Amino acid sequence: MEVFKIYKKLEKHLNDRENVGFVPTMGALHRGHLSLIKRSLADNPQTVVSIFVNPTQFDDAADLQRYPRTLAKDLELLQTLGAKLWVYTPEAADLYGESLAVGEYDFGALTKTMEGRSRHQHFEGVATVVEKLLRKVGPTKAYFGEKDFQQVRVIETLVAQKNLQTQIIRCPIVREANGLAMSSRNALLTTEERAQAGLLYQTLQAAKTKFKTQSIDQIHQWVQDVFNKNPQFTLDYFSICDETHLQEIKNPIGGIPRGFIAAKLGNIRLIDNLSF
Ligand code: PAF
Repeated sequence: MEVFKIYKKLEKHLNDRENVGFVPTMGALHRGHLSLIKRSLADNPQTVVSIFVNPTQFDDAADLQRYPRTLAKDLELLQTLGAKLWVYTPEAADLYGESLAVGEYDFGALTKTMEGRSRHQHFEGVATVVEKLLRKVGPTKAYFGEKDFQQVRVIETLVAQKNLQTQIIRCPIVREANGLAMSSRNALLTTEERAQAGLLYQTLQAAKTKFKTQSIDQIHQWVQDVFNKNPQFTLDYFSICDETHLQEIKNPIGGIPRGFIAAKLGNIRLIDNLSF
């Protein structure tokens, strides 16, 4: 494993661009990240992992400041894989140059719902950094977790719009025993909150069952009631959308349905989704 802060130095090692797998991350690595990295290692002779907390995708300075940064621990964890890995840990200037400019993108309706509605310019910031990373690393395949399902759809659209030659590989959500989707933000939860946070997944599972027999309005009302009974959470949204366009399904027959949920537990925002 080798670690590079400067892309120019990493570039010298990536001699065969035909066979590079890439896993972009913001660090605070967990089993979910490791599953992406293991998949890339299995698929490609070379794997690059980037660790960079991207400021342009945060619309809240306090959220950016408290985002967990655990680089030394992350590198130790990657070392345990005992694999040939190139790890890219840039400072902002190596990716952005002088100013943290956000690119102009039009993802249409895809970014007008859910995370796009709740987090101003979030997906423009994600697209900016992912486009920069994909152009630099030039991977054959890049691996993204389905926990951020809307992000995956945005990146798939970005790659198609910009004609980037990278295949985007969707990887399944890795969960804790109580169903909580693995996320770097989970490190900010107390032990008690972490135990409670399985509620998002449990709600999605029950809503999936109800989806077979109940109306969308009834399911929404039921989810609202669950969260009213659990006031330690603030429900941001619950939505049943079609997987492709991420538009709310009004009629259970249209599109491939997937349930999405976002809620705050204390100060920490959690998201999850499940195929219905
Ligand atoms: O999913 C993440 O960790 C980030 O949004 C990503 C894709 C690394 C871009 O900063």
